[in-house]
Amino acid sequence: MSLMRDFFANTRKPGKGVTGKMMLQMMNIMHNKNALWCLSNLEIEKTASILEIGCGGGKNISNLLEKAPDAKVYGIDYSETSVENSRKFNRKAVSEGKVEVVQGSVSSLPFEDRKFDLATAFETIYFWPDLLNDFKEVNRVLKPGGKFFICNEAARPEGSEKWTDKIDMTIYTKEQLKDILIMAGFTNIQTHEHGNGEWICVMAQKP
Ligand SMILES: C[S@@+](CC[C@H](N)C(=O)[O-])C[C@H]1O[C@@H](n2cnc3c(N)ncnc32)[C@H](O)[C@@H]1O
Repeated sequence: MSLMRDFFANTRKPGKGVTGKMMLQMMNIMHNKNALWCLSNLEIEKTASILEIGCGGGKNISNLLEKAPDAKVYGIDYSETSVENSRKFNRKAVSEGKVEVVQGSVSSLPFEDRKFDLATAFETIYFWPDLLNDFKEVNRVLKPGGKFFICNEAARPEGSEKWTDKIDMTIYTKEQLKDILIMAGFTNIQTHEHGNGEWICVMAQKP
């Protein structure tokens, strides 16, 4: 593996070394324009219970709390370094009990059925191992009527070589996502596109 691919492997699962931490700081800054655009399409109940999946450096945990200050936000990530970073980035909210960050995989979420009003996934589904089963797992932890919100800065499989040459990832079209979400039991699927469809956010609801 080249040094470049080694470095970018930290997008998939930030490692324990300096490069993992550096990548998380970069992602907190570089993903934020996309994240804020995505969040502008979302309304959140003031006291919502929220699960932020693949929380990385933790910036979207704080973005969600800014939008819904009385919410409780749980972050989850399978990388130990992401969990540490998210806790540090949100240390005040963690100490106030508004945020909890746990280590775990989307494929087996350590939460009971019907716990959350909202689940979010920013720049992470490219790496999930089995999208249909992972979406079913998200569906399981949502309350009836709960929403699943996906934000992707890469939305076109063709023409995304600047990412796929460096990173082991799968880029999904909005049509593919819609089909898989329906198979996983979601309904009321809405897609927002930015520019010429470079960025997408997809909202789906548990019936
Ligand atoms: C590209 S980073 C995005 C981080 C953050 N959401 C953002 O937008 O800046 C992808 C994150 O998803 C996490 N991730 C990838 N696959 C995962 C899985 N199967 N379960 C939990 N977390 C996962 C990675 O560890 C990483 O922190």
